[in-house]
Amino acid sequence: MFPVVFYWLGKISGALNRCIVSAFLAGLGMCSAQAAESGDVHLVADIFRPLSRPAEMLLEPTQLVLLVTLGIFLVVVGVLVFVLIQFRPRGPEDHLTEPPQIYGSNNIEMAWTVIPCLVVFVLVLVSARSIVEIQDAPVPENAIHIRLVGHQWWWEIHYPELGITTANEIHIPVSTRNGVQTPTHIQLESADVIHSFWVPQMAGKTDLVPNRINKTWMEPFQVGTFLGNCAEYCGTQHANMLLRVIVHEPKEFQKWVESQKRPTAEPEGALAIQGKKDFFDLSCINCHTVDGTLAKGVFGPDLTKFATRQTLGAGVAPRTPADIRAWLANPDSLKPGCYMPDMKLTPQQLDGLVAYLETLK
Ligand code: CUA
Repeated sequence: MFPVVFYWLGKISGALNRCIVSAFLAGLGMCSAQAAESGDVHLVADIFRPLSRPAEMLLEPTQLVLLVTLGIFLVVVGVLVFVLIQFRPRGPEDHLTEPPQIYGSNNIEMAWTVIPCLVVFVLVLVSARSIVEIQDAPVPENAIHIRLVGHQWWWEIHYPELGITTANEIHIPVSTRNGVQTPTHIQLESADVIHSFWVPQMAGKTDLVPNRINKTWMEPFQVGTFLGNCAEYCGTQHANMLLRVIVHEPKEFQKWVESQKRPTAEPEGALAIQGKKDFFDLSCINCHTVDGTLAKGVFGPDLTKFATRQTLGAGVAPRTPADIRAWLANPDSLKPGCYMPDMKLTPQQLDGLVAYLETLK
């Protein structure tokens, strides 16, 4: 019986999903197709528009679960409304009679035990199949490997084989469906509390748990910038623990790799040189690393190629000189409660540090 039920649920789900899902989203005003697809940045992180495996592999089971639960919801609410109307009090004498007593009816007890069990059974099997498919996905030799460490409230990103360390912005190559497939496999760890990696159009959520290694992977079929965020409450700035995945054509990805490995040029200009001096004098180096220098702190993000990033403060602001200045002047103003201290910098020190940070590319 189960395969038949599953087959038909799948069929119905396939036929109905387009209209239900789009009506649902349009109703909530969450998504407009144009906004989601315009330009290079996918602003709406819409799980119903996966552009990568394994997010694509999750779409069908998600729709099936939504349809089944929607059906249950409609039946329950329908019966409830029917009963409310049909058996409403119709006069004072209604209170003098008792409704029919059905306690102990085997048929009814069987029906409301067996049917929910079958529904749960179907959903468990469908979910289990997807979980196994995603977790046991083969890792090809050309796969990109990333080690991702969650911190309060930013993402530490390592490419062990490429010798690259960065933060908050993951660069990966695009795959073609029937050609070159270069999935990115990610090892997830946490430095403090539980976080959760979620880039909705790439893959489902996977937690980053202290003292444990979890795994996930992404295999996008479209270039562009995809937004994600921490999906497990992890402290005051959880909502600003943003991340983005930047998907490149393979050649562009190689260019990015080379740009990250290139030694950083010494700063030029009095302002930037003064900024570099301040960076080393003001104890910035206790928390931040700049490769090839004495700055080897690991509490905050690696700044070696800071000026190649799109954002700062784990996506809290674009990386413009004005925002860097505001961030350095008072990190709390952009991200209240964050662990970057207010160093009480003078305007001159701020100008110098901004100029120096802009040379880190
Ligand atoms: Cu990290 Cu929420």
